Amino acid sequence: MDRYAVVGNPVAHSKSPLIHAEFAAQTGQELHYEALLAPLDGFAATVAAFRAAGGRGLNVTAPFKLEAFELADRLSPRAEAAGAVNTLAFDGGQAYGDNTDGAGLVRDLTHNLGRQLAGRRVLLLGAGGAARGAILPLLMEGPASLVIANRTESRALELADRFRAGAGDAELRASSFAGLAGSTFDLVINATAASLSAQSPELPPGVYAPGALAYDMMYGKGDTAFMRAARADGAAAVADGLGMLVEQAAESFQLWRGVRPQTTSVLADLRASIDRG
Ligand code: ATR
Repeated sequence: MDRYAVVGNPVAHSKSPLIHAEFAAQTGQELHYEALLAPLDGFAATVAAFRAAGGRGLNVTAPFKLEAFELADRLSPRAEAAGAVNTLAFDGGQAYGDNTDGAGLVRDLTHNLGRQLAGRRVLLLGAGGAARGAILPLLMEGPASLVIANRTESRALELADRFRAGAGDAELRASSFAGLAGSTFDLVINATAASLSAQSPELPPGVYAPGALAYDMMYGKGDTAFMRAARADGAAAVADGLGMLVEQAAESFQLWRGVRPQTTSVLADLRASIDRG
């Protein structure tokens, strides 16, 4: 049976084995998908052993997305732009690296949450790997503007400069958090790591336009700190990143198997299991 895995450290908490097992059952694909714990200094060796044993593909999670980028022989344009790889496909002697995170985010926003991005004002919070992976897929939706805001403003400026050539008609600019005062947005995406420590980025009040959605890439049981702060500041709708997780998995599954799984029931099952847990 074709073997796949998610590799990370830690990895025991990963929902990916559950998601891919549901995708496989639903599409009638015969495959085995497991969680692989790699030592912090042993990512390449873990990948090599998996390939030697006939492994066909890997999802890569923290902290190895940059190492996976280095390891790939060929890269998709979106992995190149993200500077990180979350999906590896092994074909003969070649390792193909892709990044499905940003596409998963956009699919969740547009398909699951029914938000069109064309002509909208979008605010992206954060300038780390998670933010960087989202920029090109967001720009490809044709927003009116994309503002990248970060606690450390210089990192946001670097990102805005890097992506300016691909911005098309969208206004792309960087900001500090304080510099957002007086601006409003239709969509605010939290790609900072603040929710990991139950914190929310410290934004000035009033950034949510009427009807705005606040989206946290993190997820958990109940609202994240960012979602609570967004509600308090008048966001009309809030969402966490569970849909992004399922959608990036579906993109990976499609890359490996050539079929696109249905995500609605998988997302509902996962939400129910998290709410129970
Ligand atoms: P990742 O790859 O998950 O994006 P990262 O590269 O370490 O992780 O980036 C973390 C991001 O979260 C950064 O944008 C960081 O802001 P700084 O560049 O100023 O460090 C942001 N971040 C982390 N904790 C935060 C907090 N409590 N409030 C606001 N931003 C935070």
